[in-house]
Amino acid sequence: MPNFRKLDDLGDVAGKVALVRVDFNLPMQDGAVTDDSRVRAAVPTILELSAKGAKVLLLAHFGRPKGARDASQSLSLVIGAVEKVLGKEVMFVPEIAGDIVKQAIGILDNGGIALLENTRFWPGEEKNDPELVKAIAANGDVYVNDAFSAAHRAHASTEGLAHVLPAYAGRSMQAELEALGKALDNPEKPVAAVVGGAKVSSKLDVLQHLVSKVDHLIIGGGMANTFLAARGVSVGKSLCEHDLADTANAILDAADKAGCTVHLPYEVVVSQEFAANPPSLRTCNVHEVADNEMILDCGPASVEALGDVLKTCRTLVWNGPMGAFETPPFDAATVALARMAAALTREGSLVSVAGGGDTVAALHHAGVAQDFTYISTAGGAFLEWMEGRELPGVKALEI
Ligand code: 3PG
Repeated sequence: MPNFRKLDDLGDVAGKVALVRVDFNLPMQDGAVTDDSRVRAAVPTILELSAKGAKVLLLAHFGRPKGARDASQSLSLVIGAVEKVLGKEVMFVPEIAGDIVKQAIGILDNGGIALLENTRFWPGEEKNDPELVKAIAANGDVYVNDAFSAAHRAHASTEGLAHVLPAYAGRSMQAELEALGKALDNPEKPVAAVVGGAKVSSKLDVLQHLVSKVDHLIIGGGMANTFLAARGVSVGKSLCEHDLADTANAILDAADKAGCTVHLPYEVVVSQEFAANPPSLRTCNVHEVADNEMILDCGPASVEALGDVLKTCRTLVWNGPMGAFETPPFDAATVALARMAAALTREGSLVSVAGGGDTVAALHHAGVAQDFTYISTAGGAFLEWMEGRELPGVKALEI
C-alpha cells in the first residue's frame, strides 16, 4: 500500500482554507439524487476539517461537460442533497478560482463549507493544466483528496493540486486504500475473485491481472459464455464474444500456469427470450443449451459449488454480477452467491471487498451490502485498481 499523508498528520488548520476533492458525480433522475453514497463517504473528512476550524472548499466534477459551462451539469443541482447528508449549510460558489472564490472565503466563518462549481466546466481541468492548478491553489492552504473514485483521472483537481499544496488523503480515500490494499496487495490467502458482467472485452485487463494474483477466479455473467464457447461449449444464442476465443483461451492458460483455478458455470439458467420470468425458462447442464436458447444466469447447483469454494477462501474481491440480474429471475445466482459471501464475512472467515456501480447495486438488491467488509464507492477507478494499474490521484499523494 502506498505511504501517504493522512488527516492525522495535518497541523493546525483553524482559519486555513482546505481544498477538498470529493466525488459528487452522483446519479440523478428527474432532478433528484438517487444514490448519495458518495456524499456519505465524504462526510467524515468534511466534518473533521470543519470541526478543526478550516474553511472547507469542496472541489468536484459532475458528468462530462467537456470544458464548457452547462447548467444541466452544475454542481448547484446536488447542493440540497449534500446539505441534507451533512446536516449543515453549504455555500455554493459558481467558480473554482479567482476573486469570486476569494470573496466566498472572506464570507465563510471558520469551519464553514462551500461547494465550488463543476471543475470540468474549465478545459484546463481534464488537461491538468498547470495554470489552472496554480489558479485553484492560490486560494487554498492545504489540499485533501477524498475522491478515490476519481483517482484514475490525472486532472487538475485530482492530481495537479497534490503537487503544489501540502497534500493529504481524506478519510474515505484512506479507507479505500487500506481496504483495497488488504484485498489484493497483501491479502490473507486463499483469495477468490468474482468477475462478472456482460463482456470480456471490458474486463480483459482485469482478468489478465487477476490470474496472477488470486487462487480462484470465478467468472460469471455474459463474459462466462465467451470462455465456455472458447472451450468448445455450444452456447446457443447467448451473448458471447466469439472473436475473443483466443484471448479467453490465453487467459485460461495463463491461469493454469499461475496456479489459479478458474470456475465457469457447469449448470445454467436458459431461456429462448430475454424477458422477465419467460415461459421457456429452464435450468440445464452447460452442455445442453439448445441453439435457440441463451444463458442468462448460473444455475443453483453451480452457485452451491461456488459457495463451497468461498468457504475455503479468506479474501474475496467482487466485481460484476453473475447473471442478467436486473431482470428476474436472472438475479438468483448473484443474490445467492452474495448472501453466501455475506454470511462467511459475518462469521469472520472471509474479508470481502466489492466495487463497481452494477456490483454495488446487486449487493444492495441482495440486501447484503452492509455485511461486506468493504464496499468501494468507485466504478472506473475500482476496475483500474483491479487491473493492477497505478492511479494517478493516489500516486500524487505518495510521500
Ligand atoms: C465515476 O463516476 O466513476 C467517477 O466520478 C469518474 O467519472 P468519469 O468516468 O466521468 O471520469
